[in-house]
This record gives sequence, C-alpha cells and structure tokens, in this order.
Amino acid sequence: MAGAHFPAAALFLLLAAAALRSIPPASAAVGVNWGTLQSHKLSPPVVVNLLRDNKIGKVKLFDADPQILGALRGSRIEVMVGIPNEMLAALGSSPAAADSWVAHNVSRYTVKGGVDIRYVAVGNEPFLASYQGKYQPFVLPALANLQQSLSRANLAGFVKLVVPCNADAYEGPTPSQGTFRPELAPVISELAAFLSSNGSPFVVNIYPFLSLYQSADFPQDYAFFSGSTHSVTDGQSLYSNAFDGNFDTLVAALARIGYGQLPVIVGEVGWPTEGGGAAANLSAARAFNQGLVNHILSGKGTPLRPNSPPVDVYLFSLLDEDQKNVLPGNFERHWGIFSFDGQTKYPLNLGRGKLRNAEKVNYLPARWCVADPSKEILFSGGGGGGGAAAHLERACSAADCTTLLYGGSCNGIGEEGNVSYAFNSFYQLQRQEEKSCDFDGLGIVTFLDPSVGACRFLVGLSDSSCSCGLCGVFCSIWAMSVWAYFAFRLSGYA
Ligand SMILES: *[C@@H]1O[C@H](CO)[C@@H](O)[C@H](O)[C@H]1NC(C)=O
Ligand SMILES: *[C@@H]1O[C@H](CO)[C@@H](O)[C@H](O)[C@H]1NC(C)=O
Ligand SMILES: *[C@@H]1O[C@H](CO)[C@@H](O)[C@H](O)[C@H]1NC(C)=O
Repeated sequence: MAGAHFPAAALFLLLAAAALRSIPPASAAVGVNWGTLQSHKLSPPVVVNLLRDNKIGKVKLFDADPQILGALRGSRIEVMVGIPNEMLAALGSSPAAADSWVAHNVSRYTVKGGVDIRYVAVGNEPFLASYQGKYQPFVLPALANLQQSLSRANLAGFVKLVVPCNADAYEGPTPSQGTFRPELAPVISELAAFLSSNGSPFVVNIYPFLSLYQSADFPQDYAFFSGSTHSVTDGQSLYSNAFDGNFDTLVAALARIGYGQLPVIVGEVGWPTEGGGAAANLSAARAFNQGLVNHILSGKGTPLRPNSPPVDVYLFSLLDEDQKNVLPGNFERHWGIFSFDGQTKYPLNLGRGKLRNAEKVNYLPARWCVADPSKEILFSGGGGGGGAAAHLERACSAADCTTLLYGGSCNGIGEEGNVSYAFNSFYQLQRQEEKSCDFDGLGIVTFLDPSVGACRFLVGLSDSSCSCGLCGVFCSIWAMSVWAYFAFRLSGYA
C-alpha cells in the first residue's frame, strides 16, 4: 500500500523521532478518564478495583481528590491529576500557591508505596474557543510556577506538566495543512517550547463523534475504523478514519511552529451510548472504541507518524456522569464504557480480554418510586394531568432524565412511564428518602423492578460505608465485642 513510498517529511519526522531519546517506544497504552460529576458515586476503592480487575494501568483525573488518590495508593496505576481552570490565575500569580498545590496534591503522594503520579494537567481545555480567551493569559505563568515548585520538590524529572487542549485549537482543509487557530498561535508556540524543554508531551482531546453529531453531511463510516468509502487523500497520505486525520492535523500544526517531533498524548477520546440522536448508540460506541483500541495497540501510527502511535490514549470515559452539563447535548451524561455503577454497557476488549463489571457495589435497597397506578386518571389528560407534569418537570430539574429524551434508552415508554422514571430518578437522588416519593400522593414505592427493555430504572448507591451486608456483620461483631469487653470488665471488678 502507501507504506512503500510515504512522504519524505514523514520519513524525516520518523528519523528525527528515533533520534530523540525522550520519545517513548512505539507501544501505546490505553487508559481511562475518571470523572466524578455524579449524584451516585462508586466508592473510590471499588473503582480502583475495577481498574485493576480490568488491567487498566493509567487513569486521568480532573482534580486531585484526596479520597481518590488515597484509594490509588499502592495500586501502581499511573495517574494524571488535574488542576481546574478556575485555579490557573491564582497559581500563575503566586509561586507560594504553586508550592502549596504541589505539596498538598502531588508530593504528599509520590512516596514509596504511594501514588504513581506521572502528569499534572494544568487546566482542562483552557483554550477552548467558547471560553473566549478567559483562561489563556494564566496558562504559561501557572506552568512556570508549578515547574519551579516541582523542581524544588525534586519531582521535575518524574512528574510532567501538560495542558490538555481541545481539538478546536487547530484546523486545516487537509491534515498536512493543519495550523493552530490564529489567535492561539503565540500562546501555543510558547506552550510547545515549554513542553519540549521539559520533556512533556502535547495533550489533545479528539472527538470524531462531535464531527458526526454536528454535521449531517459528515461521512458516517469515516468516523469509524473499519475502512471507509470516504477516504481522504492528502498528498501521498491516505486517511480512512477521522481520528488519524485529526491527529495528523495537530502533528502538521506542531511541525509548522517548529515542534513536529513533540510526543502527543490523546487525553480524551470516546463515543457516547445515547443522547446524541442517531449518532449515539451502543453499537456505534462499541465499534468506535474497539476500532480505536485495536488501531492504537497495533502500533501502526498515522500517516505523518507511521509506527509511532500516540504515547498514551485515555478513553472518555470510565463511568457515566449524570451531573454533567447537558448544554452541548444530552450525550454528555452517557460517555461511560461502564454505567455509573460500574456495569459494562457493551462488550469491549482493551487488549486484556473482555471487560469485567465492578464488584462489591454498595447499592441502596432494591426499591423504586413510580407513579401510583391507581391514580391513572391523573396522567391521561383528565384534568389532573397538569399536576403530574409539573412534578415530572421539577423531579427532572434536579435528577437526571436524559434517557427519556429523543435518542435516549427510555424514550418511548409512554406518558405514565415518563412520570414513573422521573419520580424514581428523583427518589434515588434523595437516597430513597420516604417523603421524596410523595409527589402530592401520586408516587408509590415498589419492590418490583419497573425497568422496561433497554430502559433501566436505577437503584442508587449508598454512600455509607457500613450498610452492605458484610460491613453490617462486622459492625455488629464490633459492637458486640465492645459490649462483651465492658461486661467482662464490669463483672471482673464487681
Ligand atoms: C490542592 O492543594 C490546594 C492547596 O494548595 C488545595 O486548596 C486544594 O483543595 C487541593 N486539592 C485539589 C483537589 O486541588
Ligand atoms: C447507531 O449509530 C450509527 C452511527 O452513528 C448509525 O449508523 C446507526 O444507524 C445507529 N443504529 C441505530 C440502531 O440507531
Ligand atoms: C415522554 O417524555 C419524552 C421526553 O420529554 C417525550 O419525548 C415523549 O413524547 C413523552 N411521552 C409521552 C407519551 O408523553
């Protein structure tokens, strides 16, 4: 195929890459993003076991939550911690704040038997076009201060600072014509120089799903990895999938500013399972993610970086997050390769066999809140329907009801189904608090799972660490021992 005569520029890049010691070997790894915008959170130790059971060796976080880092202690999982955009200004203006951030959120954990923190993500997509430059001035000052802090903590050789960028930072009619957005060119040049001099990779988030979702004429099969009837020819390069095309647009843009050899990590990439109209469903998510993983693990690389795949690729996302903002679309809450409670949504092989579910998940009791069927009249437009509709609206403004909407797994369960789903979602959000199923007498608690087909009525997770059966047993044994001890002492002294 095209391999025998790939472009001279690519050959040069390949040779240059081979000559650079900082370029890692051509074996990329697949990690996951662990976001926590959830009303029902699995406990961090359960998630860490889920990662270990599935041999997922790299995880990317959006902050530096002490509970999560605590659970990662001793796990040997490589970690990228994150700094929210809102903190950039403070960190950029104060070396002391940067020192304190590193001390609290990095040095404390990077001890023997601690957490294997490899990267700190400084901001999350701070150059996103929709932020209109709001965070842009603070990125480099924050990097400079944090780098100093890492040096002072003797961590600079091991922990690397990176800045995850959205793919909207660059554009090009074809990959080889990639350039950074004009207003970003200066800041990205400084960023690339910083990364290069510190041995850090460029981190980019790539979403072929959004291309398909946002433009009706985007060729369907170009988004996936199974060959394409819409290949793009670019000089001597042939692109058969949007991921490679996008990745190489970045590579070309970096080359144009003199950093064509900078290693690249894909910080986020994935496909949602619902909430994105026709583009998001289980089979599409499976096809994309499996195709991506196979492509990355094959080590083939892209036309501009043959045999040199991205250093690492972090799937977005590990778990569904029901509290994500749905402004971009309802799909935002459905990116997980696992549901919120750590159950696989579709078969996926990350290179180590098929995915396994989370174990020892601490659910609330198996009960649900539904619309009371004896009050059916209220839902069929018979005067009282307005009451149910108002309750539904209020329930859904607090709890997640995105599955009810167009393109969702519960769309089409009927009017009463809608109300029941909303009631239950709210009831679980309120941790099954009795009054939360009242709805002016319209709600009723049931012990029969009201799920219909693919539409799952969830049971929430318990946040108490002492309510599962086993823990309960331990608690009573402990209480009895204490009691027995005092009883014994009392009798002894009596
Ligand atoms: C990190 O460190 C700072 C102290 O400098 C602290 O305010 C912050 O809450 C810590 N945790 C996270 C998640 O950033
Ligand atoms: C699933 O998504 C794919 C691609 O986005 C689409 O072509 C297909 O028709 C969808 N399948 C269903 C059953 O909606
Ligand atoms: C249920 O709710 C969804 C989302 O609002 C809506 O599209 C659907 O038409 C509703 N079903 C009925 C029967 O009202």
